[in-house]
Amino acid sequence: MTLSPLLPGAFAPPNAAELAEISRLLREGAGIVIGEGKASMVQSRLAKRLRTLGLGDYRSYLALLNTPEGADERGRMLSALTTNVTHFFRENHHFEQLRAKVLPPLLARARAGGKVRIWSAGCSSGQEPYSIAMVLCDLADDIARLDIRILATDIDPEMTALGRAARYDPASVEPVPVALARRFLAHEDHAVTVCEPARGLVSFRELNLHSNWPMRGGFDVIFCRNVAIYFDKPSQETLWRRFEAALCPGGWLFLGHSERLPADAPTRLVTAGITSYRLPMAGSGTENPQCR
Ligand SMILES: C[S@@+](CC[C@H](N)C(=O)[O-])C[C@H]1O[C@@H](n2cnc3c(N)ncnc32)[C@H](O)[C@@H]1O
Repeated sequence: MTLSPLLPGAFAPPNAAELAEISRLLREGAGIVIGEGKASMVQSRLAKRLRTLGLGDYRSYLALLNTPEGADERGRMLSALTTNVTHFFRENHHFEQLRAKVLPPLLARARAGGKVRIWSAGCSSGQEPYSIAMVLCDLADDIARLDIRILATDIDPEMTALGRAARYDPASVEPVPVALARRFLAHEDHAVTVCEPARGLVSFRELNLHSNWPMRGGFDVIFCRNVAIYFDKPSQETLWRRFEAALCPGGWLFLGHSERLPADAPTRLVTAGITSYRLPMAGSGTENPQCR
């Protein structure tokens, strides 16, 4: 067998022990599991970090991560290893459901003086919360005088910064329906910007879903799509319970296409469409004062 030599400046992928240690840090930090045999994926996503730090192997990288000074780098490692793929109007049936069923009664409540809170949890670079915002604004010309907000959170500060900037590659806005693109997207030099009033509805925050949540709940709609798929089962189950507690009576939970609440889960959430769930309106027993 001939071994191909590493190119100058390159380094070997993590060995099994190093991969196990990186997996442990990722699971503890973000609840994300990576299977065995993912050494080349880890190598392709972390190589830039090692080069930037001037490190020649994963042994030195892990030594850094395990020091108190490595705290920042642990965050960067999580950012590098998470999957951020997203796009506008992804799984469009959820936006159709929002338009037809979910938002009209919420808008009526807001017009009667109530508040409406929507959360895009694991929002990546913002295409999901801005898609929600465009549908909302399209339904409500009076949006500026209503108490409606969209919270967009992600563990990765690079993603929330991109969301805040609201500038996208022109090719990436292709899935935006033409009528909405005309009203809510502005074309500039080689970029497209989400504009008001859709942009101002969304606030971006960094948040690890496995940490404490500073918000007190009271959400009418939670989108958490294509996020929990990367979590281990206990982390998923904890998350479903926390989402249920954060929803108001009649609140909606939207998951990604390959995510489901387990059929035997002890939950009051009931199926309300394709990978969407809803709390009953009455008698759900929520004590959350944010829902009043
Ligand atoms: C595949 S993207 C999904 C984006 C969007 N929800 C969608 O469906 O298009 C998954 C996002 O979840 C974020 N994420 C992963 N683990 C997380 C955690 N523990 N807490 C918060 N966000 C997390 C990642 O940074 C990434 O941006």
